[in-house]
Amino acid sequence: MSVVEMTVNGKAVSADVEDRTLLVEYLREHLKLTGTHVGCDTSQCGACLVLVDGVAVKSCTMLAARAAGTRVTTIEGLASGTTLHPMQQAFHENHGLQCGFCTPGMIMSGIDMVQRLGTDLSEETIRHELEGNICRCTGYQNIVKSIAAGAAAMAGSR
Ligand code: FES
Ligand code: FES
Repeated sequence: MSVVEMTVNGKAVSADVEDRTLLVEYLREHLKLTGTHVGCDTSQCGACLVLVDGVAVKSCTMLAARAAGTRVTTIEGLASGTTLHPMQQAFHENHGLQCGFCTPGMIMSGIDMVQRLGTDLSEETIRHELEGNICRCTGYQNIVKSIAAGAAAMAGSR
């Protein structure tokens, strides 16, 4: 066991965890931030995606200890009070979800895309970038639409 400290959604946090604890377990089980989902055991689905120092990471692939000292952002850290992040609002307005299981990862992925590639995202780019995120419900059409709209809204909110 060792004490792992980091900043999650702007707040300093600390937990005494086993060395093999994954970042996703640290978030869900120790911090009770259950918006980050676990959809597979094989690093494929992207439901567990969070930002670590601003970079998208599948949190089921990283040990919590490796994230020590970093700044982590989860889906719970996006809204400002009752005001949704533009990418969240875009998913809401464009019906970018059905069961919602994949949605936290999709939204974090959309934000990561904007950070890396800018706000003018083509459908082709979005589809290519979503290769690491699996949705079992939607057929992706409205997810792609939501990310394009969210990216455009992020351009306006900067
Ligand atoms: Fe991490 Fe599926 S739970 S990629
Ligand atoms: Fe159900 Fe994507 S909305 S898995």
